[in-house]
Amino acid sequence: MDKIDISIRVNEDVFDLRVEPRRNLADTLREDCGLTGTHVGCEHGVCGACTVLVDGEPVRACLMFAVQAQGKKIRTVEGMACGGCPHPLQKAFVEQHALQCGFCTPGFLMLAQGVLEKNPNVSDAEIVDAMSSNLCRCTGYHNIIAAVKQARESMKTGGSA
Ligand code: FES
Ligand code: FES
Repeated sequence: MDKIDISIRVNEDVFDLRVEPRRNLADTLREDCGLTGTHVGCEHGVCGACTVLVDGEPVRACLMFAVQAQGKKIRTVEGMACGGCPHPLQKAFVEQHALQCGFCTPGFLMLAQGVLEKNPNVSDAEIVDAMSSNLCRCTGYHNIIAAVKQARESMKTGGSA
């Protein structure tokens, strides 16, 4: 299959790549950009481990072709920390013990970041609803929800969780 030249912006970097049209964004991020923080679980849109932000919207990277990312702003878990300081969500996940094996964590972080950026006053019920779209086999979700609530409060006050 003929490859296509694309240029994608991920976090603060631009990657000029040559990819097959069928190559998905998750594989491109991991294998072509070297950004292995985006995890791949089911590869068919169910688990959410591959969630990244595309122009601020949480998107399953296994369901998006890399060529569709041209011209869009992609954010991955590698771009969350700022100047060596963890993002309030990352801090809250640690403090609330919101991970065990951690495989699902990058997807949850990106999902939660998208939700909190879109609506800083998101309700508890809306957080539960939003987080239910991703799968975690370890935590039972209680601590993930607690972490997102903690980050919601700290992001409102501009604090660091
Ligand atoms: Fe993309 Fe599971 S790997 S949703
Ligand atoms: Fe193990 Fe979520 S922490 S799958």
